[in-house]
Amino acid sequence: MTILIKGGTVVSSTGRTEADVLVDGERIVAVVAPGSDLAAGITADKVIDATGKYVIPGGIDAHTHMQLPFGGTEASDTFETGTIAAAWGGTTSIIDFAVQKTGERVEDGLSAWHEKARGNCAVDYGFHQIIGGVDEQSLKAMETLVDEGITSYKMFMAYPGVFYATDDQILRAMQKARELGLMTMMHAENGPVIDVLAEQLYNQGKTTPYFHGIARAWQMEEEATHRAIMLAHLTDAPLYVVHVSAKQAVEQLAAARDRGQNVFGETCPQYLYLSLEEQLGATGDPTWGDFEGAKWVCSTPLRSRAEGHQDAMWQGLRTNDLQMVSTDHCPFCMKDQKELGRGDFRAIPNGIGSIEHRMDLLYQGVVTGQISLERWVELTSTTPARMFGLYGKKGVIQPGADADIVVYDPNGHTSIGVGKTHHMAMDHSAWEGYEIDGHVDVVISRGSVVVSDGAFHGRAGHGQYLKRGLTQYLV
Ligand code: URP
Ligand code: ZN
Ligand code: ZN
Ligand code: ZN
Repeated sequence: MTILIKGGTVVSSTGRTEADVLVDGERIVAVVAPGSDLAAGITADKVIDATGKYVIPGGIDAHTHMQLPFGGTEASDTFETGTIAAAWGGTTSIIDFAVQKTGERVEDGLSAWHEKARGNCAVDYGFHQIIGGVDEQSLKAMETLVDEGITSYKMFMAYPGVFYATDDQILRAMQKARELGLMTMMHAENGPVIDVLAEQLYNQGKTTPYFHGIARAWQMEEEATHRAIMLAHLTDAPLYVVHVSAKQAVEQLAAARDRGQNVFGETCPQYLYLSLEEQLGATGDPTWGDFEGAKWVCSTPLRSRAEGHQDAMWQGLRTNDLQMVSTDHCPFCMKDQKELGRGDFRAIPNGIGSIEHRMDLLYQGVVTGQISLERWVELTSTTPARMFGLYGKKGVIQPGADADIVVYDPNGHTSIGVGKTHHMAMDHSAWEGYEIDGHVDVVISRGSVVVSDGAFHGRAGHGQYLKRGLTQYLV
């Protein structure tokens, strides 16, 4: 099967050009100037007219949590529903987090994750490894990860009693990662302090979702980010800080990068658009009243707009103090899931679902002039590919690359919301009512058209496991 995508503007992280793209089987085989003799000679089984549209490499969401057991329940998207929603939104690869907890074997956690995902994904998928219990056994097990195609792992300075690692454990893991070439991903919030603040608020009768954001103070994100950076400095290990939301954490990353350290930062759409005041403090939905903010309980938390955190995230994306935008997709329904924390914000399962909307939401930064078209592609596809050892196969439109391609219509329109464009397994949308300039028209995953004409044509099981290489951000 050959597909010719004709007449579009091919956008990469470094430029844009009018070009026709030929796909043969699962790969891109040619990118040619339109109107050239070469282009004139091409015939294909299927022709997609991309006139007036952007042709971009499929999105890579490097931070997702399908079916994550968390907060006494389990994230509501399965690998099937979550990757179908991803496809709808122009994301053709995900990197999910396999989980190892204290006392469990890393190998068992990883094989359980393969079990959940295998045969169920509509787009390609890889894994990072969560090391939720650093001990002799898990440190030893890290040695096998590279062979498994897992070249990055996540630790938590937050969530005591669940995934939390102490500084001495982090030091040991970073030393090991340095030896193996693994990228350390860090959830940088001071969990023990946050838990005390949360308990004090609860005891004062401050129990609504808003206080989740108060307890998880930006000072404790700045502090943990700094500590992670210093431990990385000491061990000469590269560091990738996930879901950055505090302005002061970006300043820590910028300072470390200015010193020449290999530290990287990711933010998420929620930290670019949503806030403590408007969302965590929301009371507008009559079904939920002062519990409505639970829809947006995630960690790190949404932060105060008055303090300027959202603007700082956009600035970080422009100045390259932040390198990537992932979703941290970790959806929970309000009914029976978020509801577990009614009357006690500490018991609300943490997470927001956005996998379907990341490309559209970031594209709004192009519309408003906050980032360039090329930077949009870089933040959502090319850098994730390079950061996590997929570049060349993914993250770029060039001969030899997988035919993961999105035809994006800048003149199209997308209305986000349940009952509109929402395909995630959630009973609400964190983005209800958002109106998007732009539209994901066609999505091709490894040469198969999975979305076109407003319909899903893919299937669970099409997605393949991605054995990733080492990060391409280090020499
Ligand atoms: O609230 C969040 N972020 N839930 C997912 C787990 C994590 O910390 O990434
Ligand atoms: Zn986290
Ligand atoms: Zn996460
Ligand atoms: Zn359209």
